[in-house]
Amino acid sequence: MNIIIVKDYEEMSRKAAHLFVAQLLNKPNSVLGLATGSTPMGLYKELIRFYNEGMISFKSATAFNLDEYVGLEKEHPQSYWRFMQENFFTKVDLPVERQFIPSGVAEDITLESYNYDKKITSKGGIDLQVLGIGRNGHIGFNEPDLKFEARTHVVKLDEQTIEDNARFFKDISLVPTLAISMGVKTIMQSRSIILLASGKEKGEAIMKMLSGNITPELPASVLQLHPSVTAIIDLAAASMLDIAALEDLYQISMPS
Ligand code: PGA
Repeated sequence: MNIIIVKDYEEMSRKAAHLFVAQLLNKPNSVLGLATGSTPMGLYKELIRFYNEGMISFKSATAFNLDEYVGLEKEHPQSYWRFMQENFFTKVDLPVERQFIPSGVAEDITLESYNYDKKITSKGGIDLQVLGIGRNGHIGFNEPDLKFEARTHVVKLDEQTIEDNARFFKDISLVPTLAISMGVKTIMQSRSIILLASGKEKGEAIMKMLSGNITPELPASVLQLHPSVTAIIDLAAASMLDIAALEDLYQISMPS
């Protein structure tokens, strides 16, 4: 794993955008794995800027999102479909027919999960996947568990995740308790992964992800096994790291 420690959220977003730009310049028909939440918003802003400046185009690209709440219609203000429309898809030239997000209202969610993985495979697999990390170490909506769930599946959201995401809803009772999420194997099959973390509330999860055992109880720890992960972490999220000890395990760059 390559670890880039940056000053703040803006620098994290810029560096992540540069990796996406390089990916698209090298392979315009890339399959991108996208994420929602507060963390990637700055990345999307930067990518929209590069797009508006004519540096990149998404017209040959394909996008797969990590997850969606079960029970929220596409148009629901807090659906991840809506998030992607508002923050990214309507602002770039990525064709609608190649914007994929699992449906949280499919009649048969098991079939939807199965078909989602099949679709990813049929498009050649994900070239570059961006991930945030939950305070509990989740990636996508793979919550701490006793085993890694391989494929896209339905998950019961952790109490902590529901609390964390309540900020987007009028009331915590309105936060869905189930979600459909790419599984750990689906994520790990991405050719490259960028993990982003900003803010001191992510500090403990980042420390455990890098310094702890590989365990489904801290799902992001599985990334230690992936051959091409770049973790871009701001100083606040890196505040619990023992950099000197980690330097034996990882390539680490510090802010200039
Ligand atoms: P956040 O969520 O970006 O809103 O902090 C990250 C995540 O849960 O993966």
